[in-house]
Amino acid sequence: TRLAIGVDVGGTKVAAGVVDERGHILGSVRRPTPGHEPRLVADTIAEVVGELQVRHATGPATPIGIGAAGWLDRDGARVMFAPNLAGWRDEPLRDIISARLGRPVVVDNDANTMAWAEYRFGAGRGCTELCCVTVGTGIGSGLVLDGKVRHGAFGVGAEYGHMQVVPAGLPCGCGSQGCWEQYASGRALVRHAREITGSSPEAGRSLLALAGGDLARLTGPDVTAAAREGDPAAVKCFEEVGHWLGQGLASLASVLDPARFVIGGGVSDAGELLLGPARAQFRCALAGRGHRPEAEIVLAELGPDAGFVGAADLARAGTVGRA
Ligand code: BGC
Ligand code: NA
Ligand code: ZN
Repeated sequence: TRLAIGVDVGGTKVAAGVVDERGHILGSVRRPTPGHEPRLVADTIAEVVGELQVRHATGPATPIGIGAAGWLDRDGARVMFAPNLAGWRDEPLRDIISARLGRPVVVDNDANTMAWAEYRFGAGRGCTELCCVTVGTGIGSGLVLDGKVRHGAFGVGAEYGHMQVVPAGLPCGCGSQGCWEQYASGRALVRHAREITGSSPEAGRSLLALAGGDLARLTGPDVTAAAREGDPAAVKCFEEVGHWLGQGLASLASVLDPARFVIGGGVSDAGELLLGPARAQFRCALAGRGHRPEAEIVLAELGPDAGFVGAADLARAGTVGRA
């Protein structure tokens, strides 16, 4: 079986793994992202790839794919922009990395590689019109149509996190306002939790305790833990974020009409706490409801490794001919 190495580069962590043709992970490595300077990021990528190559005795011809949290150009050569990574502005990321590794690499958007992984090996198997949404710090998304990742004319298609859901709403890292990722993300989840706790310390008691008494230290996983315990304030936060998620998915259904939405990312660890309210609002907001088939909304299956699994598989498939 032909192995490939995938690397997922996000704002906080770099995760990499050796992946076989069936999407199985033979081994993986994780490191914190060493700041956002592309050359430092390339150093870390070289380290993790080197470590995996030694550990798994992969040959020099093993394909290497990168999923990066930025807007790649049509060829996957340059990161034009990254709303949540201040250092990535028109950087020739692919060449920096391949110079550092002495090997060609394939680069795609992190959410696109995740969508590809779910399509090939996860909750999107067999689905030819698939939209994946990853709810993390921001919102990433990927579209797989007819067995291909879709990139739009300039490479920045499937950036649904930046569709405007609230005119003149909250400012976004992309420079716009009211983007979906400000309302249906992990960041929004924590914002709601802080608001509730700030305005009603009694309601936010367990949240505050989880944050060690310091609201500034409250994290998304804290809110998930509290909601799982049935804490009403935390459950309310998921209702709010789930509501916005379903609202956005309804708009996407009008644009894309996918058969299935696969929802991944850290916030989706909460499972039905997020998907329940999302499905409810999806049904409320879906145009022409009752007169059309409805897309399913399901949880991703591959967890936090999906990004590098998909990147590895795209590299193996030689998907340089981007669709
Ligand atoms: C970026 C996407 C990225 C997503 C998840 C969004 O803010 O626009 O390119 O896929 O965050 O990392
Ligand atoms: Na994308
Ligand atoms: Zn935005």
